[in-house]
Amino acid sequence: MNDFTYFAPTKVVFGKGAEGQVGKLCKEQGATKVLVHFGGGSAKRSGLLDRVCAALEEEGLPYVTLGGVVPNPRLSLVYEGIELCRREGVDFLLAVGGGSVIDSCKAIGYGLANDFDVWELFDKKRAAAGCAPVGAVLTIAAAGSEMSDSTVITKDEGELKRGYNSNYCRCKFAVLNPELTYTLPEYQTACGVTDIMMHIMERYFVNVETMTVTDTMAEAVIRDVLRYGKAALEDPRDYRARAEIMWAGSLAHNGLLCAGGPNGDWASHQIEMELSGMFGVAHGAGLAAIWGSWARYVLDAKPQRFAQFAYRIFDLPQTGDPTVDGLRGIEAMEDYFRSIRMPVNLRELGVGELTEEQIDELAEKCTYFGRRTIGQFKVLGKEDIKAIYRMAQ
Ligand code: NZQ
Ligand code: ZN
Repeated sequence: MNDFTYFAPTKVVFGKGAEGQVGKLCKEQGATKVLVHFGGGSAKRSGLLDRVCAALEEEGLPYVTLGGVVPNPRLSLVYEGIELCRREGVDFLLAVGGGSVIDSCKAIGYGLANDFDVWELFDKKRAAAGCAPVGAVLTIAAAGSEMSDSTVITKDEGELKRGYNSNYCRCKFAVLNPELTYTLPEYQTACGVTDIMMHIMERYFVNVETMTVTDTMAEAVIRDVLRYGKAALEDPRDYRARAEIMWAGSLAHNGLLCAGGPNGDWASHQIEMELSGMFGVAHGAGLAAIWGSWARYVLDAKPQRFAQFAYRIFDLPQTGDPTVDGLRGIEAMEDYFRSIRMPVNLRELGVGELTEEQIDELAEKCTYFGRRTIGQFKVLGKEDIKAIYRMAQ
């Protein structure tokens, strides 16, 4: 078991109509001028944006708006946001949207608090000295950015998608109203459910001794997400289901479910990130398409862990052979993905058959051009990564 520091400083305001408190929450943080950052239009169409702006006005808080964040958010808009905030004297960043909008806000925050090109953080050339304060009104249960220490941005040229992690960017508050997720398209709900489970599974599949209490919580949350994810797809206005997955999404990625272990494996995420960087696919769908291939590739490093997953998540019987049982667990997970209409290979993901050149480019980018290996459950180099892309075809 590892020593650890658990740090989850985000104030969570959860429940119906919670966005009405957003003006007060910004004020509490000392905001004097707010950037309201949003995506491609869902927040406008639903009337949420108007309600958020009204809540700021009620507190006498001036604001400027910047929309247009796309899924897999772009560096070019981050630069635009930094310029706008400097010009307008903005001192608080409010994300109204999903992981993409929150991440774009966090990157703008880094740009405001550091006097160098913000991409140098994502390129791992510099470390941040701070981040302007960010708050979030979440509209999709998925990425967990509302409580995580992470932001993921895509550089427009070269389609490089990179993350940067530090506690500076943790949201000051997160407003979680499950009703805001009623309008999600079925596909986005399923992508979100997948991402939430994957954030837990990335932490669960590690090749060292873990804490029992952490394992038990992780298994319980995965089971709940399996159950309520289906329920939310069956009835998009099922408040309980929406609420359960929304809270699970935050807990999945705030550090709670890796306490006492290493920070996680994250190979599936790294392998997927190159796919969403290059092809613009939804992150959750990309994870579903890659996970089974990753799992089969690394199974032999510790089959007992996959067997435990099979017994405790899917109640599968023990045959006495952990490799057989582990494989059954992988198949059960893939069956679940199919049941929520998530892809389990790259063809189903819609990226078509990859050429060897594309596989090489994806793997090369994934190793940061030869500067790193990935994974903890089993350490993977470029040839391993290529093999997983090939298996996932
Ligand atoms: O842009 P709009 O019109 O709002 O539409 C969005 C978008 O098309 C739509 N949507 C969101 N809420 C909605 C809604 N549509 C109807 N009703 C609503 N209530 O859903 C689409 C996806 O939104 P996005 O923000 O991209 O989704 P998600 O939260 O899954 O974020 C994905 C991004 O987060 C990154 C991913 O790589 C990806 O770039 N991640 C960030 C992490 C972090 N910061 O900790 C961790 C994750 O592993 C992940 O990498
Ligand atoms: Zn993710």
